[in-house]
Amino acid sequence: MSTDTPLVRMRGITKRFPGVLANDRVDLEVQAGQVHALLGENGAGKTTLMNILSGLYRADEGEIYIRGQRADLQSPRDAIDLGIGMVHQHFMLVEPQSVAENVILGLKAPGFFLDMARIERKIAEFSRQYGLQVDPRARIWQLSVGEQQRVEILKMLYRGVDILIMDEPTAVLTPLEVEELFVTLRRMADEGKAVIFISHKLGEVMAISDQITVLRGGRVVATVDTDQTTKEELARMMVGREVLFRMEKAPVEPGEVVLEVRNLRSLNDKGLPALRDVSFAIRQGEILGIAGVAGNGQRELAEVVTGLRKTADGCVLIADCDLTNRSPHRVIREQVSHVPEDRLGMGLIPNLAVSDNVILKSYRDPPLARGLFLDRLAITRFAARLIEAFSILTPSQETPVKLLSGGNLQRTILAREISAGPRLMVAVHPTRGLDIGATESVCNLLLKQREEGAAILLISEDLDELLSVSDRIAVMYEGEIMGIVDAEEADIEEIGLMMAGTKGLGTRDK
Ligand SMILES: Nc1ncnc2c1ncn2[C@@H]1O[C@H](COP(=O)(O)OP(=O)(O)OP(=O)(O)O)[C@@H](O)[C@H]1O
Ligand SMILES: [Mg+2]
Repeated sequence: MSTDTPLVRMRGITKRFPGVLANDRVDLEVQAGQVHALLGENGAGKTTLMNILSGLYRADEGEIYIRGQRADLQSPRDAIDLGIGMVHQHFMLVEPQSVAENVILGLKAPGFFLDMARIERKIAEFSRQYGLQVDPRARIWQLSVGEQQRVEILKMLYRGVDILIMDEPTAVLTPLEVEELFVTLRRMADEGKAVIFISHKLGEVMAISDQITVLRGGRVVATVDTDQTTKEELARMMVGREVLFRMEKAPVEPGEVVLEVRNLRSLNDKGLPALRDVSFAIRQGEILGIAGVAGNGQRELAEVVTGLRKTADGCVLIADCDLTNRSPHRVIREQVSHVPEDRLGMGLIPNLAVSDNVILKSYRDPPLARGLFLDRLAITRFAARLIEAFSILTPSQETPVKLLSGGNLQRTILAREISAGPRLMVAVHPTRGLDIGATESVCNLLLKQREEGAAILLISEDLDELLSVSDRIAVMYEGEIMGIVDAEEADIEEIGLMMAGTKGLGTRDK
């Protein structure tokens, strides 16, 4: 192979789904030794293109060459045999099994029995070589999301993959884990492998990639060298117009207390303490941001407030009504909205149409229900309005939501939860996986809810985002609130210290 032959060459790739042209004559070349980023708005066709390269989908038109040879990829197995592996956004690991068992899953056993000790040694070697820290004997359910991702990468290395595709790998990682992942990806590239990296975060793309291909509406807009471009130019290419990162935060006088939690104590799924004596209050017209590294009790807090998890101690008061350990249904009756972390698991019903998913909460009430019957016409109009207002990209209202792109799933949940006109909104990572334009509009939607008098509990790992929309920021560490600070006067360094476990800074809420 001459040095100019690209490791991957996709030519004229076209892929149609009913009502959608997902990829339109796409050309992509990726060189060995390169981290190549794929950028584009939600629904631009990034995942589809990579599903084709990894043998999951077949292109309708076009050719793929690997190391200069024409490749006919009929299945992920064929792709793996050619050294192509993809780590999807939703991991596909078997929870009760160990790391090592997951790594060898699906591989033919060499000989009659497996030499686990040898396999574990080999995994440990890869771990060291690429900085992928994980115990080969740990069970998957014991691992954090970041560690599970390392297992997925180890699985690929074990199979000899030298073209690694990662679909939005950083969306679920903490800032420290992102740094560690980048060290791993850089090492892989330095060894002559190719990494294809999908992300919506322009800062990350600028930091890790050598080249960037931008997609818009299924087509390639451009491929550029990272050191020859800027974030502003990338944003413009993605969206097709100038993008202003601007947020209008009007002054709002906080009203009555809407949510008050006192001395909450709760356990996580593993039976370990997740919340330790958590107390705070949020008023009408106020956004309380919760900062902290994921896994420090934020998710459990949202679940206790929305009735999805029991609290062992303490109480949840919504508009002076004691809702401690009441059902999610009861909580919804108090006009509580919830944008959950797990979109397809908890937020949406994957097989139902977009229109049915957006009415999940309001179908019992007029104007959508007339007596015992649903008014189909009213539903169609209601759904059409939301699809338009939230720019949900879908071939039709009847499309099952599981066929939408990642970002459009998120918009569907937001459309439903915000349109319910909530008194209290609990939003967990509401902008995760959204493109820049959508991130900006979600932040503005939250601010609008605030102006209309909603109380908002906003959980996010993005400090810049928290600082720009929140009124106050509470920092969580190991299930405890380390302090609550005013967003206007917040000191990023101080918040960072609290995120790492330093207590007593900032003003504690009563
Ligand atoms: N299996 C499928 N059936 C029907 N339509 C699909 C399917 N997979 C993807 N699509 C559609 O193809 C288009 C491109 O989707 P894709 O998932 O590739 O976008 P993406 O660039 O990865 O977006 P995101 O940033 O939101 O993840 C979307 O309109 C999506 O709804
Ligand atoms: Mg995608």
